[in-house]
Amino acid sequence: MAASLWLRGATKQPAVASLAAVCSRSVASKTPVGFTGVGNMGNPMAKNLMKHGYPLIIYDVFPDACKEFLDAREQVVSSPADVAEKADRIITMLPTSIDEIEAYSGANGILKKVKKGSLLIDSSTIDPVVLKELAKEVEEMGAVFMDAPVSGGVRAAWPANLTFMVGGVAEESAAAAQQLLGCVGGSNVACCGAAWSGQAAKICNNFLLAISKTRTAEAMNLGIRLGPDPKLLAKILNMSSGRCWSSDTYHPVPGVMDGVPSADNYQGGFGTTLMAKDLGLTRDSATSTNSSILLGTQAHQIYRMICVKGSSKKDFSSVFQFLREKETF
Ligand SMILES: *[C@@H]1O[C@H](CO)[C@@H](O)[C@H](O)[C@H]1NC(C)=O
Ligand SMILES: *[C@@H]1O[C@H](CO)[C@@H](O)[C@H](O)[C@H]1NC(C)=O
Ligand SMILES: *[C@@H]1O[C@H](CO)[C@@H](O)[C@H](O)[C@H]1NC(C)=O
Repeated sequence: MAASLWLRGATKQPAVASLAAVCSRSVASKTPVGFTGVGNMGNPMAKNLMKHGYPLIIYDVFPDACKEFLDAREQVVSSPADVAEKADRIITMLPTSIDEIEAYSGANGILKKVKKGSLLIDSSTIDPVVLKELAKEVEEMGAVFMDAPVSGGVRAAWPANLTFMVGGVAEESAAAAQQLLGCVGGSNVACCGAAWSGQAAKICNNFLLAISKTRTAEAMNLGIRLGPDPKLLAKILNMSSGRCWSSDTYHPVPGVMDGVPSADNYQGGFGTTLMAKDLGLTRDSATSTNSSILLGTQAHQIYRMICVKGSSKKDFSSVFQFLREKETF
């Protein structure tokens, strides 16, 4: 039984050496995988597992999010506890620390029914302090907890090109972890060292991303006012030293690229409210480590203002739209 693979949860070292089996073609590996949180990001990750032939046990607080899984004849259950009852490998992908606490420790949380030796992989980006507490609770239940926040966004999830930043996995187990997360859509798996270091790497990445998105939007806005056609300007920047992911892959200006949120009125993608939340986590981490993050603080305020103005659900590229609107003041 696959369950026996995970019966080492009480030990210090997570049983990741056995994770290779999860992605192999063995019969045992096709026991159901639980997935809690099938929103923008969780949805393609869960579907990648489906593509690999894994039966899923799905839960989401929004029944609408579960509908297409129900239509695909996957099992949809009515609480995270039910997921834990039916699956011994569970992935969680949740938007905030509050959702995370509810999903794990709530009245119908995973910890109410989690089986000894289960593997719980959390891909959310949340407060490392909350995570630390949850991991302790998971360990007390005799299960294994891994933090594996993810980068690349929805666009990278579909072609299975995500980067996972994994905490709490020994380096020698990296290859095994890579195989498991490969089934969820990962092409890169970075083992970051001690537990919570995955979250730390993720927070630093999103902090850098927020700034590079904002500066790309500002540069484009200025450039457009100075004259060049936006598409041409984007192409030039894309061939020059100011180039970054926001300028060559996930452009914030409508009309420059197809298939990105800016081409669709900033629908989908990575919500501004989530970016504001991550920048809040960055601020907290900077405070606790006495680090200076001058630009990060500005970016945090900008994204909070965008939320206050009612665009919290739009993709964070909408910082470009926000800059345009501000000019009319
Ligand atoms: C995956 O990401 C890498 C690095 O960002 C990029 O070079 C590559 O083209 C991507 N592959 C696909 C299939 O999107
Ligand atoms: C930037 O360049 C890459 C490859 O050189 C290309 O795939 C991408 O579409 C370009 N982006 C823009 C906005 O021109
Ligand atoms: C931060 O600075 C305070 C005051 O100077 C000091 O007491 C504390 O140890 C520092 N913390 C870290 C993590 O460096």
